[in-house]
Amino acid sequence: MSTVSLKDVTKVWPDGTIAVNHVSLDVQDGEFLVLLGPSGCGKSTILRMIAGLEDPTEGDILLNGDPVLELAPRDRSIAMVFQDFALYPHMSVSDNIGFPLRLSGVEPSTRVDRVGDVASALGIGDVLGRKPSQLSGGQRQRVAMGRAIVRRPGLFLMDEPLSNLDSGLRAELRAEITGLTKELGVTTMYVTHDQAEALTMADRVAIMRKGILQDVGTPTEVYGRPATLYVAAFLGSPRMNLLEASVYVHLDQYIVLKFGDQSLYLPWSDIRARAVAHYHGERIVVGLRAEALTPVAPEVQGDVLRGRIRYLEHHGHESLAFLDIGATAIVVDEMGAGKAEGEGGNALRRFGGALQKLAGRSSNGSGPQSRDQGDPASVLTDPGRHHRRPAELAVRLAPYPAISPGHPLSVAVRMDMLHFFDGRGDRIDVGWR
Ligand SMILES: Nc1ncnc2c1ncn2[C@@H]1O[C@H](COP(=O)(O)OP(=O)(O)OP(=O)(O)O)[C@@H](O)[C@H]1O
Ligand SMILES: [Mg+2]
Repeated sequence: MSTVSLKDVTKVWPDGTIAVNHVSLDVQDGEFLVLLGPSGCGKSTILRMIAGLEDPTEGDILLNGDPVLELAPRDRSIAMVFQDFALYPHMSVSDNIGFPLRLSGVEPSTRVDRVGDVASALGIGDVLGRKPSQLSGGQRQRVAMGRAIVRRPGLFLMDEPLSNLDSGLRAELRAEITGLTKELGVTTMYVTHDQAEALTMADRVAIMRKGILQDVGTPTEVYGRPATLYVAAFLGSPRMNLLEASVYVHLDQYIVLKFGDQSLYLPWSDIRARAVAHYHGERIVVGLRAEALTPVAPEVQGDVLRGRIRYLEHHGHESLAFLDIGATAIVVDEMGAGKAEGEGGNALRRFGGALQKLAGRSSNGSGPQSRDQGDPASVLTDPGRHHRRPAELAVRLAPYPAISPGHPLSVAVRMDMLHFFDGRGDRIDVGWR
């Protein structure tokens, strides 16, 4: 049984790379916490600091409420499974799993019992006599897990343990890992860059970007109410539609959200209306997930967006239509992927200007520091972060619909399911922290 606390932990490598930037995080006893984020965001560095393999530059780490930075890794009661785990090739499965027990001088008969228990829990009880070379990838992965848990650690750290496996086996092992850690009641921190894996496995998800913790919450919380534009863009499939909108307030009636030539009307009765109304005359980012959009007949009026299908994607159980609605999409540069190109670069600078205006307001000390990036000013001036392009609104349709690209399509919008973000990428919401 273990709890973990990171208190304002920072890790700066000798070359100046800030791998982890003022992260504070509490993991509860018995919790399965998933650290999620793209490559290089500092996930492994966090696990390695908890395990004692690296020292933080600043901050403190507590296990069960006690500071552990002075403790050697072996005194922390932690087991870690790495992505590129190595088994001892000349040892049997049984000896591989039992190796940590042998090292700590556990009696052979107890060892056999404990290895047997762990192996049967992992479904590899019938291959105990084999060598690693005679196992499948999934079986080898289970042996590595068995070796980690056989010592009955208080805390289990797993760094992308499934990333070498094919997708079918991954899905199967996901369920097994969460089942096993729950059964053992062991606190687990699990690293992945796969958002679907995080949402299916986690009690809570902690989302990282460039060393900064963006959001922490249950899968329902972070999916349903993402703290930043980045989290909104990272979670869910298809990706959330992120549209630039101009805001005009008609006091006591409604707020017009204008996307190109089309508008949606947020009623004044919406609990978020007052927060959004602060942006009168400015631009914000409006997020619409596919589940907020329902295809309707062309004559339907009200909260409806209209466009033409640019292309269709068939996924077997559903098809996705991508609609050109004459709006501008904000593309979050979350994966370190492409910067704006050509005309996009100009557009980007224009949007950067709008963002800067917002920054002027929020960096004068009134608001909290943006989580979207460490330095609030750079959020708004760094042209590599977001870029704009014509929106292609992702809409769910029944599988293989009888329509084709070029077709007009109207979609009704659930206004209560919209997400709003300011120019810094922070959520605009009622009572937002
Ligand atoms: N020993 C090191 N010396 C210098 N820089 C390092 C070292 N280890 C990691 N880094 C850098 O620190 C940052 C965070 O690395 P980390 O390994 O924690 O990322 P990650 O989130 O685990 O990524 P991945 O998903 O690719 O494993 C990266 O920029 C990386 O290049
Ligand atoms: Mg890593």
